[in-house]
Amino acid sequence: MSLLERINEVHNQLKKDLSNVQKTFQSVEDLRLKYIGKKGIIPALFRDFGTLGPNEKRDVGKDLNTLKKSAEEGIQIITDKLSGSDHVDSGFDHTLPGFPFKPGHLHPVTQTMNRICDIFREMGFGTEFGPEVETDFNNFQALNFPPNHPARDMQDTFFIEDNILLRTHTSPIQIRTMMKQKPPIRILAPGRVYRNEAINPRSYCVFHQVEGLYVDENVTFAELKVTIEMFAKKFFGKDVKLRFRPSFFPFTEPSAEVDVSCIICGGSGCRLCKHTGWLEIMGCGMVDPNVFKACGIDPEKYTGYAFGMGPERIALLKYGIDDIRLLYEGDIRFLEQF
Ligand code: DAH
Repeated sequence: MSLLERINEVHNQLKKDLSNVQKTFQSVEDLRLKYIGKKGIIPALFRDFGTLGPNEKRDVGKDLNTLKKSAEEGIQIITDKLSGSDHVDSGFDHTLPGFPFKPGHLHPVTQTMNRICDIFREMGFGTEFGPEVETDFNNFQALNFPPNHPARDMQDTFFIEDNILLRTHTSPIQIRTMMKQKPPIRILAPGRVYRNEAINPRSYCVFHQVEGLYVDENVTFAELKVTIEMFAKKFFGKDVKLRFRPSFFPFTEPSAEVDVSCIICGGSGCRLCKHTGWLEIMGCGMVDPNVFKACGIDPEKYTGYAFGMGPERIALLKYGIDDIRLLYEGDIRFLEQF
């Protein structure tokens, strides 16, 4: 077979190999070695070409160069495609089913806050927010905690500067709202609050509160009771019983704490309710006239009620969790249960 015939034959084989080669780097490399590697077919042809006389060289040279070029370009094109493509056969089985996609969900505390807000929204309460860094005036003074008053000790405070602090409750949102809005006011104020407390199963230095405020002419304690009762029945179920215990908050007078019948034992006594049959869920009361005065609202004309509750506490009760710290550790195994 003449060299020219061999070149043609190799060229035909090359075309077949280029179109059939497996799309892996290894197969393409094998192909490169076969044709243009040092010990490959084309360098061998060149060696034979070297033995030809000048006239024959002229006839054969062109075809041999074309063959060499086809091999180099063909292999380059496949290599480029492989490098840029996501179909590289890495040995991964593309027909395997995908990993199950785990959608996230809202944190149990957020779920609880949302549920509380939804129930009050149905009763006509709007939503207000406020900053977590507050003034002493909004957090304490305007809420009828005078400077150096012992009632301040009820809320261990993180101070940032003399009169700037991390809010210890959401009640300053009452102040902000009453300062900028004329009654009637009917708002819910959810948010994060901070207290400089030792961390233990029952308390954490960061938690949430949902504050409620209703101000208008002739608002009464009876309305407060009915509103809280409607909320509790929607949240805990219609059979829940309520009791209002006299209490003290500087910003309400009279003040009360609200208990619901234990959601585990229904009132007969168990570990959750410490055998009392009752669980405390919030504080509330009639807005103290001093608070109205601090906000420029006429206490002779308007009355109002306020209440405040902790969604963490309510979530702990609702789900029977006995350690508040679990809510803040971000452990997926814990969170995915809710
Ligand atoms: N701010 C109170 C606290 O952090 C909770 C509270 C009690 C809010 C009674 C109120 C209220 O609006 O009327 O302990």
